[in-house]
Amino acid sequence: MKYDAIDKSLFIENRSRFCNYLKPGSMAIFVSNDILPTNADGAMGFRQNSDLFYLTGVDQEDTILVIFPDAKDGRHKEVLFVKETSELIAIWEGAKLTKDGARQTSGIDHIYWHHEFEKIMRPFIYQAETIYLNSNEHTRRYIDTETAQDRFNKTMMAKYPLHRFERCAPIMQHIRSIKSMREIELIQQACDITEKGFRRLLSFVKPGVWEYEIEAELIHEFIRNRAGGFAYGPIIASGANACVLHYVDNNKECKDGDLLLLDVAAEYANYASDLTRCLPVNGKFSKRQKAIYDAVLRVHRAAAKQLVPGQTFEKYNKFVADIMTEELLQLGLLTSDEVKNQNPANPAMRKYFMHGTSHFLGLDVHDVGFFHEPMQAGMVFTVEPGIYVREEGIGVRIENNFLITTNGQQDLMKNIPIETEEIESLMNSGK
Ligand code: GLY
Ligand code: MN
Ligand code: MN
Repeated sequence: MKYDAIDKSLFIENRSRFCNYLKPGSMAIFVSNDILPTNADGAMGFRQNSDLFYLTGVDQEDTILVIFPDAKDGRHKEVLFVKETSELIAIWEGAKLTKDGARQTSGIDHIYWHHEFEKIMRPFIYQAETIYLNSNEHTRRYIDTETAQDRFNKTMMAKYPLHRFERCAPIMQHIRSIKSMREIELIQQACDITEKGFRRLLSFVKPGVWEYEIEAELIHEFIRNRAGGFAYGPIIASGANACVLHYVDNNKECKDGDLLLLDVAAEYANYASDLTRCLPVNGKFSKRQKAIYDAVLRVHRAAAKQLVPGQTFEKYNKFVADIMTEELLQLGLLTSDEVKNQNPANPAMRKYFMHGTSHFLGLDVHDVGFFHEPMQAGMVFTVEPGIYVREEGIGVRIENNFLITTNGQQDLMKNIPIETEEIESLMNSGK
């Protein structure tokens, strides 16, 4: 791993939080992600299951965590199975965790090899009343690829059909949505690396630069600062491309007069950051670009102030829709008749601002958490309003990451230039 080792106290504390929600006599089992194939003998870069990482810190495949707080034999309250290392694996792939390394990483004393799972665990599974299995219950999940955990769940339910089964996901969604200080430091580190990448671009972007050259600058800066890479597919969209919300081709030349939308951020230690900024390719916002940009910035700032404990998403979204409507009227993009006659379930402003304002952020960029629950201190959200005017070839989004505190919110990206004047001045300072 490129990141510094994380103290195991984080994972010990996370397991203890999880155990508070288990029914008596229960066992919970978490499985690592697969290494996904490409073609021939190729494989994609490994990405750990976020829940398993949250509970153990183990960042490799073939890992199983068992939590059984009421185990009669104290040795089986927490058990971790990791991939057996061997001289052959060490030669070809580099060292995997030894048992001692797994202990150091996770704070779990009882470590076995992955292939011993069945033999070691069967007697203890019979002691458990209920088995909690994990699953991906993210509401925006749309990929049906069967995961290692899905396969494992099928096997467990077939082998132990008379046990009661419960879902880990609602517990994990809840506890992961409220970040500890250590997690916030890791997210801050991801934000700080993102800032370095963004600042590097301020002197790099100019007419004639290609979007993929910008992508290359960013990944260079991210990796040399120990990021795992991009936290999500980078969107580097010049001119009208900025109005394509999920533009990831990044293959056009940035032209004089274009506004460039950059939704680009680093991840650090599996924690994501999520930034969007817009730069004028020639170093100077046009009057119209600045008017739209400043409108989005006002919405961004007003929305961020609404992130406070007790706030509901229903009220928050309504607030943002109302101020965005006002800005679109001022910009001449909506008429008062359109607003007067709008369907409240699908307000007129949706024509220019078609996505959500905020999402949870953490181990996943669209992190887990419940939108129907009021906001709480420790939650981290993005704020990312945008205005996309396809007929003018201008798309603006401004996105920062905020921690909710006991009495308000803290901007984790407060040092990243955001005002048009500062952006222009930094873009032109080397000229
Ligand atoms: N970069 C993904 C998002 O803003 O939600
Ligand atoms: Mn976002
Ligand atoms: Mn984003």
